[in-house]
Amino acid sequence: MRVGEVCLRVFDLDEARRHYGERIGLIETHKGDRDKLYYKASDEHDIYSLVLMQSDTPGIEYFAFKTYADSDLERFEKALTEYGLTVEHIPAGTYPRSGRRIQFRLPSGHLMQIYAQKDQIGNGMPTHNPGTIPDEGYIRGMRVIRLDHILLGSSEIMRNREIFTSIFEMSISEELISHEDETRIAIFLTGSNKPHDIAFVLQPDGNRFHHISFLLESVNDLFHAGDLIGKYNIAVDVSPNRHGVTRGATIYFFDPSGNRNEVFTGGYVHYPDTPQLTWDTSQIGRATFSHDNMPRQSFLDVLT
Ligand SMILES: [Fe+2]
Repeated sequence: MRVGEVCLRVFDLDEARRHYGERIGLIETHKGDRDKLYYKASDEHDIYSLVLMQSDTPGIEYFAFKTYADSDLERFEKALTEYGLTVEHIPAGTYPRSGRRIQFRLPSGHLMQIYAQKDQIGNGMPTHNPGTIPDEGYIRGMRVIRLDHILLGSSEIMRNREIFTSIFEMSISEELISHEDETRIAIFLTGSNKPHDIAFVLQPDGNRFHHISFLLESVNDLFHAGDLIGKYNIAVDVSPNRHGVTRGATIYFFDPSGNRNEVFTGGYVHYPDTPQLTWDTSQIGRATFSHDNMPRQSFLDVLT
């Protein structure tokens, strides 16, 4: 259904709490683990979608997709095993208030999990006569609505492409290819109506993290996020702009450990019959940042 959980490594949990909780406005929902923080965004029902863990090295620890039915896990395990990956079983309850999971290392080096059950605590509004907004104070900081997508880097992205399309039956919404030899530089994949749920970018090393993106309701909220980023001196990578790929409006900035974050809004609706789009590197400025058509070296090179 979606990327339902991302676990990032951070240097300092107090700094991370200020950044992800107070500034971005995520809601801390589960407490009790000494070395981890658990967050959800305002319009998510599941108890958490972001886990932060204390570490001496920033980057991504694992990510997890939520699938609709528990029986999907057997089907995916069989297909992944036949593909040649080693699949581990994680019993229910290993992760707080979550059902069983399967876990495997992708050819890109990233650790991925799939699960079907996690407790739902709601979005601050009842399910009967819900109204339109939760109580004052529930939506705060940058007013993020949900975890939207992640972008990961690796020297091996083509076998991930095969796994995500053939086994997980996701669609390629867009690709960026080299204009010289048509090598795939970036692959954008969707399992929903979003222009992307996950993307992979070609990098010299495996198991790299490029960014985690949170959805905003509007471009007005994007500008409001930019105001907060300036007010609190949050390190910016790219100030408000619009992607060619996905057509989403964007700001990129960094958490205190150097992990890149994005706030994102807009972009088109992807249907199963929407044609795949291709960009080539002769237009890399337009593909990445279409207000000035300027590629940013930091955006291409800085990963955790
Ligand atoms: Fe993004």
